[in-house]
Amino acid sequence: MSRELFADRLKTAMQNKGFKQVDFVRIAETNNVKLGKSHISQYVSGKAMPRTDILHFLADTLEVDEDWLIGKDEPVAPTPTTISNSTPISGGTIMREFKKSSKLENVLYDVRGPVVDEATRMEDAGTRILKLNIGNPAPFGFVTPDEVVYDMSRQLTDCEGYSSAKGLFSARKAIMQYAQVKQLPNVDINDIYTGNGVSELINLSMSALLDTGDEILIPSPDYPLWTACATLAGGTPVHYICDEQSEWNPDMADIEKKITDKTKAIVIINPNNPTGALYPRDVLLQIVEIARRHQLMIFSDEIYDRLVMDGEEHISIASLAPDLFCVTFSGLSKSHMIAGYRIGWMVLSGNKRIAKDYMEGLTMLSNMRLCSNVPAQSIVQTALGGYQSVKDYILPGGRVYEQREYIYKALNDIPGITAVKPKAGFYIFPKMDTKKFNITNDETFALDLLREKKILIVHGNGFNWKQPDHFRIVYLPRIEVLQDAMMKIKSFLNTYQQ
Ligand SMILES: Cc1ncc(COP(=O)(O)O)c(C=O)c1O
Repeated sequence: MSRELFADRLKTAMQNKGFKQVDFVRIAETNNVKLGKSHISQYVSGKAMPRTDILHFLADTLEVDEDWLIGKDEPVAPTPTTISNSTPISGGTIMREFKKSSKLENVLYDVRGPVVDEATRMEDAGTRILKLNIGNPAPFGFVTPDEVVYDMSRQLTDCEGYSSAKGLFSARKAIMQYAQVKQLPNVDINDIYTGNGVSELINLSMSALLDTGDEILIPSPDYPLWTACATLAGGTPVHYICDEQSEWNPDMADIEKKITDKTKAIVIINPNNPTGALYPRDVLLQIVEIARRHQLMIFSDEIYDRLVMDGEEHISIASLAPDLFCVTFSGLSKSHMIAGYRIGWMVLSGNKRIAKDYMEGLTMLSNMRLCSNVPAQSIVQTALGGYQSVKDYILPGGRVYEQREYIYKALNDIPGITAVKPKAGFYIFPKMDTKKFNITNDETFALDLLREKKILIVHGNGFNWKQPDHFRIVYLPRIEVLQDAMMKIKSFLNTYQQ
């Protein structure tokens, strides 16, 4: 069966029934079928095929024959571009088609998803796009501190070989001292793993933990890599709500409600991407108390911990949980504006006795990838010690601070838009009045904004936020650029109706 044929037939059947993509999502929800808008949009655009159970659901819902829907009545056309080694077709042989693994079927990563594909297509056709979709500081003029670049260049010739799997001693020592400052309990040098960004370690830590059927609590909205990696590892992400009414803090009652005997761990993202929330001590203590009562492991993603504004203090949850097993993640991509160097780390702390076997798994996976990028490890000590240039950005008069002030006010000045003020990081997650704009699909909103105003944002569903009423803006561009973007978004929303 071919994806293109399936996509054509799906579209035809949808048209015949007067169905929109969002209708599937609604019906799926009422029938307890796990199906997101991005999945449907990938099927319709011919980018993915559904699993068998989803295929049954689609055919039943559309009241069409399943075999017809997947094109079983058509001979498979040879598609040379999908064939490895481009074996010539001879004697009418039907060529085998290579598909992505079915493990990827429920994996979503819309920060670089279908809307971004459309932006790329428009760029290829010569259109200039303002990208407010990825937290990548360098393109917006945030430069790496000179000392970091200088120190890396000096050490480059010493970084030609693999390092030990967990990382260079000097890098891990600096991270250990940082962990001491953050009061992480019971950490020694062997509890520190460096990675090619926090991203690699999120993947590694989920793969080492989750068996099929294991549940893990992940915030909604989340940084979607957590949900994606938990799914890819075979686990079941269960989303708990972060409450916009309460400055986007996690909703404890919702967390409690979602714990089952299969729940192994809870993930928090603090400071939060996409909301910009910073969790106060009492909130963290409540999470610790729940984790303690239900014997959960805690994963805390703290990559924005040095980008906290308004004189507030970042508290590592692990410092409040010496009796629990915690894994704390951080790195240099954001605070040191060196996302491209790829360096992050994770620190194991607290009650390590209960996690001996898990730690063996982590070490095994860490050994299997040999080591993280060694030149990037070589500057961890420089970056974490001494003068922290990032502080200039987050104080009044600094770029990140002033851009946050601007975007917060400008968004709230748009009729139909409200936003909670971020306390940290460089993202804001505004809410749209869906009734006013008649919005039923936030991905369509993102595509419409892209096509009309050439502005790329990420829709809320891309962060596993279920209602179609939010989007995320990266406020890294300079104020003049943000002003232009806000003017365009305002004029777009002036008349927008879905
Ligand atoms: C919350 C969060 N965690 C992890 C990452 C990945 O960071 P890294 O560049 O270290 O892989 C990001 C990147 O945007 C993020 O927002």
